[in-house]
Amino acid sequence: MAIFIPEDKISEIKNTVDIVDIVSETVLLKKAGRNFVGLCPFHSEKTPSFTVSPEKQIFYCFGCGTGGNAFSFLMKQEGLTFPEAARRLAKRYGIDIPATALTADQKRKINQRESLFHLNAQALIFFRRALNDNVAGRRALSYLKQRGFSPETIDRFQLGYAPKGWDHLLKYLSRKHLSPALAETAGLLIARKGKSGFYDRFRDRIIFPIFDVNAKIVGFGGRVMDNSEPKYLNSPETPVYQKSRSLYGLNNAREKCRTENTVFIVEGYLDLLALHQSGIENSVATLGTALTAEHIRLLTRYSRRMVLVYDSDEAGIRSAQRCIDTFWKEHVDFRREDIFREEKADTHILVLPDGDDPDSYLLKQGPEAFLAAAAKAPGIISFLIERAVDKHGLSTEGKIRIVADLQTTLAMINDSVARALYVKQLSERINIDEAAILDKIRGAVSRQAQHISDRKYPSDTRSAINGSESLAASGQKLLSETGHRIEQQIIAMMLQFPQILPEIEGREVLEYFESNMLKSIGDVILQKQIKSPGQVSELVNFFEEPDKKRLVAALAISDESWDKKGCLKLIGQFVETIQRKHKSRLMDDKIRAAELNRDQQLLNRLLNEKQKLAMRSAKQKMALLNDK
Ligand code: GTP
Ligand code: MN
Repeated sequence: MAIFIPEDKISEIKNTVDIVDIVSETVLLKKAGRNFVGLCPFHSEKTPSFTVSPEKQIFYCFGCGTGGNAFSFLMKQEGLTFPEAARRLAKRYGIDIPATALTADQKRKINQRESLFHLNAQALIFFRRALNDNVAGRRALSYLKQRGFSPETIDRFQLGYAPKGWDHLLKYLSRKHLSPALAETAGLLIARKGKSGFYDRFRDRIIFPIFDVNAKIVGFGGRVMDNSEPKYLNSPETPVYQKSRSLYGLNNAREKCRTENTVFIVEGYLDLLALHQSGIENSVATLGTALTAEHIRLLTRYSRRMVLVYDSDEAGIRSAQRCIDTFWKEHVDFRREDIFREEKADTHILVLPDGDDPDSYLLKQGPEAFLAAAAKAPGIISFLIERAVDKHGLSTEGKIRIVADLQTTLAMINDSVARALYVKQLSERINIDEAAILDKIRGAVSRQAQHISDRKYPSDTRSAINGSESLAASGQKLLSETGHRIEQQIIAMMLQFPQILPEIEGREVLEYFESNMLKSIGDVILQKQIKSPGQVSELVNFFEEPDKKRLVAALAISDESWDKKGCLKLIGQFVETIQRKHKSRLMDDKIRAAELNRDQQLLNRLLNEKQKLAMRSAKQKMALLNDK
């Protein structure tokens, strides 16, 4: 719903919202000092590490490293886009977003969407009634029962029945004064060829309404109850239904996806129902279409671990390869929208035993067996390696073919840390030198690297960032992997005690920074002239890279009691440390020169000096640790 919201309205919303209100709607918060704490809604935990600062209007979870402001919270929690979150907040605080801000075309589109949702809802009432009708729906109901579905499942998924005949829905809609043309747009009616009038698309089929995340009906699927063809019929794409974006069952699955941090992705309607009925509610279905980048992007809002479930090796391999392509495309296409993807997905492939789909497997083996198999499901790459080994064997010839099969796939992985790990894994599995494999994929990799360097990350921090992502950075890990403790403290101080900014600027402290990531955050703090901790939330909005957002939240959230004296001391110590490092490097050069010249006297003097320097530095380090 890309609806234009004027910039001044965004600022008004920003200035009005209170993050404590917003978070309190879903998380029980307790006061702790100047902050509030509660159980994190984004990962499961028993002791609260989710922290909200009313002063800075930000949140940060020390457990899972998620952080941001009221907008990011709503986006992550509800799976909203930025404009959707803004509208939600505006509504909550009674801020009027003027309708005149919309163009006539935008208004028409919104009205059409609303009308389509309304029409679909009316049609569902009809299908539901038909299923529960003793005469018309009896066969459909008994089919569902015979397939093992309970009345609760049928209700939860609002299954219905489209009666036999050509115009039952048509008549019902016209009694409700709903236009057949609109129903045609919705895909429910089909215009008669060469004649005037319409007929029902779905006839004598069990009906599966497809909901979006806001529980609005976007389309329908229909299954026959015998062996006739086609087995399934789906709504065509409409202004409210795009197959590449819809996932069946997501509205019922998202809570559980979040708490479990896992989502199962299956292919069929009935597979999905079977999973839910077995209590595995963190499941969605792609409905016969291949998994798209949009699907993955949507799912990363709810869960990091994804398990793709297939009924054959072949389908699994095809999908795994597509997925890797998709991830790569995802990175390029959605680069500007990184804001929606706080972490990368961790994707696994589960292939069920021969001839079973999730539905039949659950009926035979039960949910525990399914979950046990899923827990062992290999990651995409491990899966592809094992399949290649199965296919080619481990003879010399076989190994050459395995590497040939996998080289493009490996080159496709744009995360250099992950790629290195997979190359190592392959090398160990087939006992071939890592260097030889790397050699094979190098050409392709350098082409990919060109794309990546378009991103704004400085090259040396990129691997650190990627590394932390692929390890599902816990909050502490994010900090420890970014490294540079003192530099982190200085940024924290700048965020929490802005009075110190002139000092930082005057002494050009940031110029001494070794971490490019921290330096660039510091530069922005200076540029933006942050004057109070309350402006930190704005800074979170400013950064596009999710890692920077999280890092800012992580460093700003704690409440150290800064005073000018302490700050100056920290700055002094930092600058001194760096200068000492330079000095010691110079000293090492001199020592090497003295060694070369065999000037024993000079060498002794220099070594003596170096020792003193080292001792002083150790003392200072101790002082620094004791202070903080
Ligand atoms: P059952 O056979 O009833 O267990 O359904 P299933 O979901 O196991 O069927 P299958 O594995 O054959 O198909 C998986 C999914 O692909 C279905 O749920 C549909 O979404 C889709 N699909 C299957 N057959 C057709 C078809 O004929 N047309 C369309 N459009 N989609 C189909
Ligand atoms: Mn099936």
